[in-house]
Amino acid sequence: MEVKAGIIGAGIGRVHLEGYQAAGAEVVALCDANESRARETAEKYGVRKVYTDYKEMLKDVEINTISVCTPNSMHAPMSIDALEAGRHVICEKPLSVNAAEAQQIVDAAARSDKKFMVAFCYRFREDAQLMKKFVEGGELGRVYYAKTAWLRRRGIPGFGGWFTTKELSGGGPLIDLGVHMLDLTLWLMGNPKAVSVSGSAYAEFGPYGRGAGGYGRDKNLEGKYDVEDLAIGLIKLENGAALHLEASWATNIEKDDGHSTLMGTEGGACLNFAEGGFKLHKEMYGHQVDVLPIVKAGSGHKEEMAHFVECIREDKEPTATGEQGLEIMRILDALYESAATGREVVL
Ligand SMILES: NC(=O)c1ccc[n+]([C@@H]2O[C@H](COP(=O)([O-])OP(=O)(O)OC[C@H]3O[C@@H](n4cnc5c(N)ncnc54)[C@H](O)[C@@H]3O)[C@@H](O)[C@H]2O)c1
Repeated sequence: MEVKAGIIGAGIGRVHLEGYQAAGAEVVALCDANESRARETAEKYGVRKVYTDYKEMLKDVEINTISVCTPNSMHAPMSIDALEAGRHVICEKPLSVNAAEAQQIVDAAARSDKKFMVAFCYRFREDAQLMKKFVEGGELGRVYYAKTAWLRRRGIPGFGGWFTTKELSGGGPLIDLGVHMLDLTLWLMGNPKAVSVSGSAYAEFGPYGRGAGGYGRDKNLEGKYDVEDLAIGLIKLENGAALHLEASWATNIEKDDGHSTLMGTEGGACLNFAEGGFKLHKEMYGHQVDVLPIVKAGSGHKEEMAHFVECIREDKEPTATGEQGLEIMRILDALYESAATGREVVL
């Protein structure tokens, strides 16, 4: 089946647009509540139709595939409506604002015979793909500990807008950045299920109008800020392994940091998220050895969209599934609950 896409949301939606076009798929329409933004983007990329109401776009019979690229609280209603209207759907991360809504999306996808994928782009980076091969090939042995972080020194996105309004975003850096690192790390580990979560969350910058960075649009330092700006958690997994996660939009560190580090019985590997690439740490012939694979740095966006298009064209199942997106939401819900109650949450 040839892909004829409609995109809802012209922020990261532009990256979806480029990805579809690079994969040779047609983007028929772009929908954004902000009409001038939609028109300007459509014109730039040669997209024929513009909508401001996604429900109107879903009536367009020319479109068979929908990208949901809107604020987090809209992921569930838009994905469900698109699936029920018989369209293939790729939904941006996080799958939703909480596990209950994510479950509704997964249920709608199960009722549908169309493809559904969560846009976990970083899995599709060349370094991540190769590191996964090393793990699956047994180079690390049994992975029993992982730690991952995405920490920004000053980088609150879209201050005062949807990102920092819990009702629209579901949370702060944990649900925005932590979701990516948690997905990437769990995927590298073979997606073991979580059994318990313990976490803490803090809001030490945003509520005081501090910590804004160059991310997101429509900044308003007087606007609402009711989410965390740093969160950390310890997640225990069914296979006995443990995973430590950190995410911040603002905190006092030397520089921004991003990594996914696995420690196994036969080796360790650390993916340097910001710079790209990873290093493997092993013992060989009685010596400590570091191996540096030569890989290209990249965001994985283009490869992610190529994979989604290929799944539709060739009737294959997308590798970033709704169930995996739901499991991540369960962990994030538990981490927020643990932060609020001060206790470990058993899943
Ligand atoms: N995978 C990634 O690397 C990545 C990067 C950035 C954002 N995201 C995700 O993408 C989503 C959007 O984030 P963003 O940074 O593009 O935000 P954004 O604010 O830049 O863009 C969102 C767009 O949605 C539009 N919109 C809002 N309500 C709408 C509605 N009801 N109908 C149609 N359009 C509507 C807005 O006008 C805006 O243009 C979020 O879920 C975010 O987590 C993912």
